[in-house]
Amino acid sequence: MPRWRTLSTSGSSGLRVHPPPPGVLADDRIPPGGGIATDACWRCGAPRQRVSAIPGSAADPGAGPRCGDRAGRVAGGGIRGGVRQRPPPYGERPEWKGVRAARAAGGRVDPIAARAAVMLRIAIAGAGFMGGTHAPRWAAEEGVHVVGVYSRSLERAAELAARVGARPTDSLDELLAMEADAVDICLPTDQHGGTALRALAAGRHVVCEKPVARSVEEGRRMLEAARAAGRLLLVAHVVRFWPEYARLRALVAEGAIGRPTSATAWRLQEGPGWVADSDARRAVNNGPVVDLQIHDTDYLMWLFGEPRRVAAYGGERHVHTTFLFEGGVAATAEAACDMPAGYPFTSYVRVRGEGGVAEYLFRAGGVRPDQSDGRASELLLHLPQGGRQRVDVPAGDPYTEQIRHFADCLRRGQESAVVRPESAVRSLAVALRVRDALDLGAPLGMGAPT
Ligand SMILES: NC(=O)c1ccc[n+]([C@@H]2O[C@H](COP(=O)([O-])OP(=O)(O)OC[C@H]3O[C@@H](n4cnc5c(N)ncnc54)[C@H](OP(=O)(O)O)[C@@H]3O)[C@@H](O)[C@H]2O)c1
Repeated sequence: MPRWRTLSTSGSSGLRVHPPPPGVLADDRIPPGGGIATDACWRCGAPRQRVSAIPGSAADPGAGPRCGDRAGRVAGGGIRGGVRQRPPPYGERPEWKGVRAARAAGGRVDPIAARAAVMLRIAIAGAGFMGGTHAPRWAAEEGVHVVGVYSRSLERAAELAARVGARPTDSLDELLAMEADAVDICLPTDQHGGTALRALAAGRHVVCEKPVARSVEEGRRMLEAARAAGRLLLVAHVVRFWPEYARLRALVAEGAIGRPTSATAWRLQEGPGWVADSDARRAVNNGPVVDLQIHDTDYLMWLFGEPRRVAAYGGERHVHTTFLFEGGVAATAEAACDMPAGYPFTSYVRVRGEGGVAEYLFRAGGVRPDQSDGRASELLLHLPQGGRQRVDVPAGDPYTEQIRHFADCLRRGQESAVVRPESAVRSLAVALRVRDALDLGAPLGMGAPT
């Protein structure tokens, strides 16, 4: 019998049921001899009705059926003696001892305890566009539980929380007090630094949307606080997880187009909006030259390292930037948020090398007339002898890839090798320099490394 047999969801009991992912069969997970009720949550191991406890299991059949509450309880947090206990850091929970001991003794690992021990608990700060992008992807990961969702409006928090089986709150204090391994910050950029410092002080790892902070100093403070607290700071530069962008970089690194000489990147989206009040936007997120173009600035730096000089022309809504990288590669980037209504979101990258060109065009909801075969999205290699090769890249949702990678980092307690926090701070420094160059109307050197 499948273990995810759906129970009726009762609003009054607050019962939340993790739906099974399509195609997942649970039969092979039911241990020989049974022991777990068939209606334990497939993802977090919480009993939905009753668990016939396995000796040594952390499961407590008497407890209520909410997966989230169970996950917190079995993971070692909770309120004891009237005092809220901070959950032990991931990997140091008591359940690990049993799992490790059982493994060391060559014995069977109690699946409930094992699942509790490997359960990642995520608190989401922000229920807007990115909160709504991250939260369902966390919730869809096996072994991850979204414990809470914060928004200033409780209604907005509740809407997203209901989608992921989490507790809504309009109090950031309450979110930070929830038993969680990590806080995922999807707040406006001017809120990143303060929220991250508070989350780190509360013993949480931090996942943070890009740009890492509003200023380089703030980004550095976050980095130093994470180091001092022994916690991870994972910055969500999603382009690094975009399968075609990542593959293109790998092709360049493998020498598929020889020594790179130049590059071009675009990021174009329709207007109006975004910069209705440019000063206010800058105060919140530094404006689109930083907030939007940093995706390409960061990607180009991932490809070519540090720029020596930058120049930028146009305006905040439509900027043309040039970078001259150490090593001589020249790159241009165009970022626009003023395209006509209905213009499809477009991102593009092309790297020219001595031995060919690699390019990738992404268009959401439309194709260009010059794309003869009508494909909206493909990675191409153009070789010097003529002809072009399509590079097959397994399809993948970049945000899911990113969340999966961060979950892996959190489980291992290891910094991301894809986005190191230092590189996120460097990308911010360069993006801010680009905006200075735009304001000045003249090229700028990078000065001393920040
Ligand atoms: N990686 C990407 O592709 C991508 C794309 C877009 C944005 N981002 C980044 O993601 C972050 C969040 O952007 P978003 O578009 O998700 O923002 P958003 O849609 O405006 O959502 C902001 C959320 O933060 C809450 N909030 C808390 N304090 C706030 C404050 N002082 N001012 C405004 N809102 C506050 C809002 O609550 P209420 O709504 O209840 O007020 C809302 O839940 C930004 O750093 C942005 O640069 C990344």
